[in-house]
Amino acid sequence: MMIRSVSTQPYDDQKPGTSGLRKKVPHFQQANYVENFVQSIFDSLEGFEGKALVVGGDGRYFNREVIQIVMKMAAAAGFGKVIVGQGGILSTPAASNVIRQSGAFGGIILSASHNPGGPKEDFGIKYNTGNGGPAPEKVTAEIYARTKSISEYKIIDAPDLDLDALGDFDLGGMTVSVVDPVAAYAELMESLFDFPAIKAMFDGGFTMSFDAMHAVTGPYATEILENRLGAAKGTVKNGTPLPDFGGHHPDPNLVHAKELYDLMMSADAPDFGAASDGDGDRNLIIGKGIFVTPSDSLALLAANAHLAPGYKGGLSGIARSMPTSGAADRVAEKLGIESYETPTGWKFFGNLLDADKATICGEESAGTGSNHVREKDGLWAVLLWLNILAARKEPAKDIVAAHWREYGRNYYTRHDYEGIDADAAEGLMAHLRAELSSLPGTKINGLFVSMADDFSYHDPVDGSVSENQGVRVMFEDGSRMVFRLSGTGTAGATLRVYLERLATDPDKLALETQSALADVIGAAEDLAGIKQRTGRDAPDVIT
Ligand code: G1P
Ligand code: ZN
Repeated sequence: MMIRSVSTQPYDDQKPGTSGLRKKVPHFQQANYVENFVQSIFDSLEGFEGKALVVGGDGRYFNREVIQIVMKMAAAAGFGKVIVGQGGILSTPAASNVIRQSGAFGGIILSASHNPGGPKEDFGIKYNTGNGGPAPEKVTAEIYARTKSISEYKIIDAPDLDLDALGDFDLGGMTVSVVDPVAAYAELMESLFDFPAIKAMFDGGFTMSFDAMHAVTGPYATEILENRLGAAKGTVKNGTPLPDFGGHHPDPNLVHAKELYDLMMSADAPDFGAASDGDGDRNLIIGKGIFVTPSDSLALLAANAHLAPGYKGGLSGIARSMPTSGAADRVAEKLGIESYETPTGWKFFGNLLDADKATICGEESAGTGSNHVREKDGLWAVLLWLNILAARKEPAKDIVAAHWREYGRNYYTRHDYEGIDADAAEGLMAHLRAELSSLPGTKINGLFVSMADDFSYHDPVDGSVSENQGVRVMFEDGSRMVFRLSGTGTAGATLRVYLERLATDPDKLALETQSALADVIGAAEDLAGIKQRTGRDAPDVIT
C-alpha cells in the first residue's frame, strides 16, 4: 500500500456547529479542505487502528467524491475496515444503527440535513462516536483545535472503488464492506413496532401520503411502508433521492412541504401525512385536518409509546431540548418519570440515552427519537404514530384533541429570521444578555417577567457544563420566549425566536396559534427590537 503524506495549510473556519461542519459545496471544494477536516477527525481520535469506520451520506451533490477521499484516508490512517452504504447512501439514523450493530469505532456522516443540495448549495461532514451518536462537544472541540494546526494529511494512492456493488473489497489492505443501507434499519423498525397491526390497518383501507422530498428516506420508506406494511403503491412521494433534492429544500416544515400540508387540509386528504428531511432524521406529522407540532408530537408519542411492543415496558425518562415546548414535561410528570432539558442539538441526548435516564427525546425542530439509535429518526416517529393509530383506532385529530384535554395545550411557534447580518444578530443577542438581570419583575407588552437567563446545561452524566445556550424569558402566566442564533446555517446568521404559552381552559384549546401567542410575539419584538436591528419586517419562516 502506498501511503502519501501531503503537506497542507490550516483553514481557520472548520469549527463544527450544532451538527458537524457545514459549508457550501464550493467552499468544501477548496484545495485540501475536506482532507484537512477528515485528518483532523482522525488525529483527534485514539485507538482505532484495525477497527471499523462507518461512512455514508444522504446522497447530496459531492457525497460520492467525499466518500472516496474518506475511504482512502481511513486506509492510510490504519482503520481495518470501512463499512459504507451502497451508492454511498445511509440515512443518519441508519448510519447510527450500523455503527452500533457492527461495533464500529465510529462513523463519518456526510450531510447538511435539511439544507438544499447541489453544486452551489450545502454540504456537511460530521463525526459520530462508537455509541452511534454525534460526537460530544469535547470531541468536536479537539477536532476544531486540530484543524487550526494541521500541517499534513495521509492518503493512499488507489483507484476509486465502485460503491454500487454489494460485498467486501480490498482498498490498500483495508476491507471495504458495501452494505445494503436499508435492510438492517428495516429489521430494527420491525423489532420495535407492531407491523402486523399496522399492516392490518393498511389492508383495511387506511391511506397515507409520505413525502420523501427526493431525499434519503425514499428507499427506506418505500421498503417499510409499501413493501413490508402493505401501504398502497404511490404512498411514498418523491421517493428517489436526487443530488439536488429536485431543486427544493428537503426540510419537512409547513413552508417546504406545503403541497403535503395543503393535501392534508383538503377534502381529499388521506388519513395520515408525513415527511422526512434530507438525511432522514427529521419528521413532519400531519393528520387529516391537523398539523401536529413537533413539541406536541413528542409529548403524544411519549404518552402512547407503551402501545408499541418496543416500549411496552415503559419509559425511563423523557428529554427535550430547551426551546422545545413543555408539553412533554407534563407527560413525564403524569408517568412519574424524569424529564430533562438539554441545549439544542441531538449530541446532548447521547449521555442520557447511554445511561438509560431517557428513553424518548425530542426537539421542536422536527426531531424525535429514542434509545434504539443515537440520532433523531424521522421514519421511527412516523412508524410510532402509525402503531398508535393502529392500536387506538382513532383519527390523529381526535388523539391530539384528547391529549390537549388531558394535559392542556402548549401553543407554540418558532419565528426564524434567516441570512441576517451576523454583526446585527450578535448585537441583538448581546443586548438581550445585558438586559437579563434587570428583567424579572418588569412588564413587557403587558406580561410580567418572572425569570430571565442565558441557559446553561449541567450534564447529569458526565458533569460537563455548556453555557450560553439561548436567552430565555419566562412570564408569570407561564408563557415563555427564547432567543438563540442558529448553529447550522452557512450564510450570515439566523435568529430563532421560540414562543410558547400553556392553555388549560377547555374552551381555549382550539385557537389559531399565532393569535393565541400574539402578546408573547409582541413582547419579543418589544424586548429585542428585531425589526430595527435586523431590518426585517417579518420572519422568513414560521413553524
Ligand atoms: C437546528 C435545530 C436543532 C437541530 C439541528 C440539527 O439547529 O434548531 O434543533 O438539532 O438543526 O438538525 P440550529 O440551526 O438551530 O442550530
Ligand atoms: Zn436532518
